Amino acid sequence: MSPMAMTAFVTGASTGFGTAITRRLAAGGTRVVASARRTGLLAEVAADHPGMVHPLELDVRDRSAVEDAIAALPAAFADIDLLVNNAGLAKGLEPAQDADLDDWDQMLDTNCRGLMYCTRAILPGMVARGRGHVVNVGSVAGTHPYPGGNVYGATKAFVHQFSQNLRSDLHGTGVRVTCVEPGMCGGTEFSAVRFGGDRERADAVYTGMRPLGPDDIAEAVSWASSLPAHVNINVIELMPVAQSFAAFQVHRS
Ligand SMILES: NC(=O)c1ccc[n+]([C@@H]2O[C@H](COP(=O)([O-])OP(=O)(O)OC[C@H]3O[C@@H](n4cnc5c(N)ncnc54)[C@H](OP(=O)(O)O)[C@@H]3O)[C@@H](O)[C@H]2O)c1
Repeated sequence: MSPMAMTAFVTGASTGFGTAITRRLAAGGTRVVASARRTGLLAEVAADHPGMVHPLELDVRDRSAVEDAIAALPAAFADIDLLVNNAGLAKGLEPAQDADLDDWDQMLDTNCRGLMYCTRAILPGMVARGRGHVVNVGSVAGTHPYPGGNVYGATKAFVHQFSQNLRSDLHGTGVRVTCVEPGMCGGTEFSAVRFGGDRERADAVYTGMRPLGPDDIAEAVSWASSLPAHVNINVIELMPVAQSFAAFQVHRS
């Protein structure tokens, strides 16, 4: 389907990946419902793409708000061809035995439940129209464990497996599913959120290395969604060249 005729719904569109994905799609002629909690930031994105971006205040953790908002979309933005489930966060990097349960709840509610609610509300329309594409933003943390990754990594493992299971359920419907799983990406609020607003600690994560940027993620989403309708990209795992794998840790007494 031509991007000019498409409508997308992007969660977490107020900053980071979501803003870059929204801008990229809108610049290519796709109408975008840009959702997040901070409406001021969404309004700035919408103002840069007149008529192409519909800002929508939405907390994805609120199940009935998700259902109501999607049911009440204006006609020009109502038939969604591309859902980008991007809203998400990591909170804390403490080992499991010291972690804050409220942080764990917030990650589960946002990264898993919010993604489920948006998917469940939008899928029936896609199936009825016989076309559509769900792009879920996972993480390398869903596959590769690291100290302090505990529940964040587990939520992204959920995103990976839910994406693959969706493909099975959507067999024969024409609806596509892709999980985009990035490694370290700078230029977003991700680390500042993880470290409770500590900008210095957040900036130190990217010192002396070149991380991916939000435009790299937007490129991956745009590529997967612009392929011919018979092609399904199941998973895209991407990392900066400066990030790779290390040996298992071994405790010796
Ligand atoms: N940056 C990385 O290194 C990296 C790597 C792999 C995967 N990821 C994943 O990529 C996604 C985007 O991350 P990012 O790096 O772009 O971080 P970011 O700049 O912090 O963006 C996160 C977005 O999620 C939204 N959000 C958070 N909680 C929400 C809620 N309850 N309801 C609706 N929206 C909510 C935020 O908007 P509001 O606060 O305005 O609601 C914001 O727009 C996340 O799922 C993250 O886990 C990031």
